[in-house]
Amino acid sequence: MTQKVFPADPVGASQAPLPPTLLWALRSPCSKGCRYCYFGLLEDHKVVPVTEVGRLSHLHRTDLNPAQVLAFARTLPRSRVRRVFLAGGEPLIWPPILPLIKILKEGGLQVIVCTEGTPLNRPDIAEALVELGVDAVSVSLDSVDPDYNDRLRPSRNGKDGWAEVISGITKLIAARDSHHDGTRQADGPVRPDGQARPRVGIYSVITRENLADIQAVPALAQQLGCDYVVPQPLSLDAGHDLYPMTLSVGHAPDVLNHFAAVSAHPSVHLPAAPYPQHVATAISAPFATVTGCFGGRSLYFAQPDGMLWDCPSSHRIAATPSHQHRTIRDGDAAILFGTATPGCGDCTLFSTDCVQMWPLMDFSAIIGDNH
Ligand SMILES: C[S@@+](CC[C@H](N)C(=O)[O-])C[C@H]1O[C@@H](n2cnc3c(N)ncnc32)[C@H](O)[C@@H]1O
Ligand code: SF4
Repeated sequence: MTQKVFPADPVGASQAPLPPTLLWALRSPCSKGCRYCYFGLLEDHKVVPVTEVGRLSHLHRTDLNPAQVLAFARTLPRSRVRRVFLAGGEPLIWPPILPLIKILKEGGLQVIVCTEGTPLNRPDIAEALVELGVDAVSVSLDSVDPDYNDRLRPSRNGKDGWAEVISGITKLIAARDSHHDGTRQADGPVRPDGQARPRVGIYSVITRENLADIQAVPALAQQLGCDYVVPQPLSLDAGHDLYPMTLSVGHAPDVLNHFAAVSAHPSVHLPAAPYPQHVATAISAPFATVTGCFGGRSLYFAQPDGMLWDCPSSHRIAATPSHQHRTIRDGDAAILFGTATPGCGDCTLFSTDCVQMWPLMDFSAIIGDNH
């Protein structure tokens, strides 16, 4: 079979490199136990703890402590990084999350919070995200079908599920819309685009059982008053018990048809071309080659223990030689993200593990901002 090769454009190859974006998996603990999570299952890791560098776990024994996280955050405004995605684990259950966001926003960075959604029901959280001028909040919800969603994304307390995620989104949008300064930037002036912050969106993991959610979730998102939706393919190793739910080459036409149908009548922002084609490639031809990839040049990935990688792909991480291992622990972002580097260059490891980085790198289209 001919190896598929494509450029990382429109977000990197032929343009001047974008200022770096940091995808920061802040902390390992989580309020959910999603069965497919990149962090694996807590129950499994209690029996056999994860020890390999670069592998994620919800156990937090090696996580940076709050002082180390905040110390690194204070160095970010002096660096080339201009946009930070705060993920996890679950970032909104970490007590110092609001001081951390304050440091980043006061330092002039764009902040996008990626959450499972339930913590948005706490009035102090929703209000604070608006008050602090967070640029966007991406909430994970896989389906319009509560049973399907809660089967794959169960909460640890056995109570919170789809309904609490929906009510969290609703509360955040209500807090934003009732905020007298919703269209203002944190420093005062009305935003040039007049759009209220945070922009609110839904991230949906797509499997062979919920392909129709590529169309159905945007319709639900519109009803809720959301601004964007990002469908991302389930990514798992062949040995995982849910691997049979992953998409493969036979699903590519359906994936493209669903994206085409929803793009024809856009109700909310969806990732633009060539993302649907990239998803089709990722599920059809592991591994394709990306020329001029933005990883390690305009995108970095930090893990809860401080390890810093060119991108979040487990394949890329495993292929990184130990002499190139780096950490944000006791680090200075101005040095770590120093001058522009070639980064990954031509990467032969494109897969479902990294395809969702394309919408991430095109986030200016969502927050209406020239990055
Ligand atoms: C690891 S979570 C961290 C942030 C937060 N806890 C949440 O769920 O949104 C970040 C995103 O990765 C997605 N995700 C987790 N495991 C995945 C997998 N195996 N394949 C595809 N997406 C996955 C989640 O659904 C979520 O949208
Ligand atoms: S909510 Fe996010 S981090 Fe938590 S288990 Fe689910 S996907 Fe993983």
